[in-house]
Amino acid sequence: MKIFADTAEVDAIRRLSEAGLIDGITTNPSLIAKSGRNFLEVVAEIAGIVDGPVSAEVTALDTDTMLKEADVLAAIAPNICIKLPLTMDGLRACKALTAKGLQTNVTLCFSVNQAILAAKAGATYVSPFVGRLDDINLDGAALLRDIRTAYDNYETFNTQILAASLRTANHVTDAALAGADAATIPPAVIEGLSKHPLTDKGLDGFIKDWKATGQSIL
Ligand code: G3P
Repeated sequence: MKIFADTAEVDAIRRLSEAGLIDGITTNPSLIAKSGRNFLEVVAEIAGIVDGPVSAEVTALDTDTMLKEADVLAAIAPNICIKLPLTMDGLRACKALTAKGLQTNVTLCFSVNQAILAAKAGATYVSPFVGRLDDINLDGAALLRDIRTAYDNYETFNTQILAASLRTANHVTDAALAGADAATIPPAVIEGLSKHPLTDKGLDGFIKDWKATGQSIL
């Protein structure tokens, strides 16, 4: 499973990229607003840090303006992936951008039927929002599993499932068990995945016993 960092914070992106733990970045208008940075500038900086896809989202609601915005975003760097909303206008734009050979990420997916249309539009990625379904007492992990099953029923559906709105370590496990192709995860959650109390306890014991031997490797 590819791991993308879901953030527009460049310090965190540098840290995770240097650790070799991430395959790409996703942003959205809310994350750009949170960063306090200029959209085009911060996306350009991020695209220079990571080699993998950097999702940058259009903000227009109509296909024609989405396509004009996509031209501006795609010109930033070759690894820009154009993020589009899962609306009829967004799907039309996705089809046109796919025909031009651009990477696309169709976002705000909350149903299998929406994911089917994203695949028909040739999206590179579809982003089902797990946490936001859980927020309203629906089952985000079940949606991932159902989209996986639907896509696997048809050889012509090549869209990758990018599990999004993942807020917890359990969400990440859910995404992997559902067979998501990629998961986009906030940096703090990615770093938290390494933690286990028995790892810390075990390491304390090993270090204590090693010191008692009086030996040194170096
Ligand atoms: O990738 C989409 C994601 O950023 C949405 O997450 O936590 O705002 O539902 P959230």
